[in-house]
Amino acid sequence: MVLAAGLGTRMKSDSPKVMHPLAGRPMVRHLLDTLENLAPDRVAVVVGPEMRGLAETVAPYPIAVQTKRLGTAHAVLAAREFLTDVVGTVLIVFGDTPLLSKGTLFRMIEARRQGAAVVVLGFRPDDPAQYGRLVQNADGGLERIVEFRDASEAERAIELCNSGVMAVDGAHLLALLDQVGNDNAKREYYLTDIVGLARAAGLKAAAVEGEVEELLGINSKVELAAAEAIVQTQLRRKAMDGGVTLTDPDSVHLAWDTKFGRDVTVAPFVVFGPGVTVGDRVEIRSFCHLERAAIMAEAIIGPYARLRPGATIGEGAHIGNFVEIKQSEVEAKAKVNHLSYIGDARIGEGANIGAGTITCNYDGFAKSRTEIGAGAFIGSNTALVAPVVVGDGAITGSGSVITRDVPPDALGVERADQRVLVGWAAKFRARKQAEKKEKG
Ligand code: UD1
Ligand code: CA
Repeated sequence: MVLAAGLGTRMKSDSPKVMHPLAGRPMVRHLLDTLENLAPDRVAVVVGPEMRGLAETVAPYPIAVQTKRLGTAHAVLAAREFLTDVVGTVLIVFGDTPLLSKGTLFRMIEARRQGAAVVVLGFRPDDPAQYGRLVQNADGGLERIVEFRDASEAERAIELCNSGVMAVDGAHLLALLDQVGNDNAKREYYLTDIVGLARAAGLKAAAVEGEVEELLGINSKVELAAAEAIVQTQLRRKAMDGGVTLTDPDSVHLAWDTKFGRDVTVAPFVVFGPGVTVGDRVEIRSFCHLERAAIMAEAIIGPYARLRPGATIGEGAHIGNFVEIKQSEVEAKAKVNHLSYIGDARIGEGANIGAGTITCNYDGFAKSRTEIGAGAFIGSNTALVAPVVVGDGAITGSGSVITRDVPPDALGVERADQRVLVGWAAKFRARKQAEKKEKG
């Protein structure tokens, strides 16, 4: 059960808190992925009314809508229909605490199997601030949870805090929740009350301790950035453990799904958006921005290259500085080395695209394709007005605006004949200097 009906007021945002991205995907999806590792029988997400887009974001998992925000116990009850015939453990997590590790969750389920009806994940934050406190008995069992606002001075001195994560015996959960009242400082139905209620019913409760880092709650943009930093550190480590050389890991930003082959080198200051696949022995030089692109083995990208969605870079191809590629296949060993825009195109194997070449793929209404054959040589500063086909082995003259197809092995050139006026420059200078003298 993922609770995500909170308003997230402190995010100062129009979108629901749990939809804010970490490493390029909504934080709630990180959490759902972690839960998937536990192979749950079912998953449900409790959302607030009018949380636009959230149902699509968590699909195929179902949502339950909590229409009034009356507390965490009330939120779980909003999903009552998913809780009626549960055999086993119900795990309750908060959508705004997405860094939870699967190892910790496994430990909680294990503690449940040892006989506790309610298992609570505790942690020891540097600043316990407003967290609920876990009140333990002499033999380390859990007696109850007291919310900060309702706690005595002595209880506030307890260092073990409630992270909010719970694992509860499905056979008891609904009966416990139905007994929760709202006679407390916030006039809310506290999920935390089920610990005391379980103890009163003679059931066992236990605490498991998690790491502070995985229990970072995200309530503001500052905390979102702190969580992003943690996720980035994890992703960089995973990439390096997989054999990627990151010269300066801290300056490389990865996405949750960035895929690397072996012996890839990534220079400093490279940003990966979602959906990038990098083949073996690829070299990505500094200051590149890549998203939804596939790079085959041994290609060289950058410095200063931008690969946009749908860019496929073939084996051993070179994409150089200030080159933008969108929705195009650059085939093996082709070169687009300087100052180009290639959109909606196929660049054939071994073709060479001269500096400053652009595909004019958009006429203000429709996008059109450009086809460049294998081994073609596109002269510098060629404008390829799509739709247009340049055949295998063809050449275009530098500076040409190519509007008609160029057959294989032909030359396509479009420019006025050059005139050479001998001595013209010298005469021009003499005239101008004379004019300047006259004016004094
Ligand atoms: C809760 C715990 C507290 C714990 C802290 C950890 C309770 C009563 N208190 O306090 O012991 O230390 O989390 O962060 O559980 N939510 C709903 N519907 C509601 C209320 C909350 O879906 O009506 C969801 C929120 O979206 C959020 C989570 O439950 O994901 C926690 O709610 P929040 O109001 O932040 O609880 P805290 O007061 O922080
Ligand atoms: Ca909170």
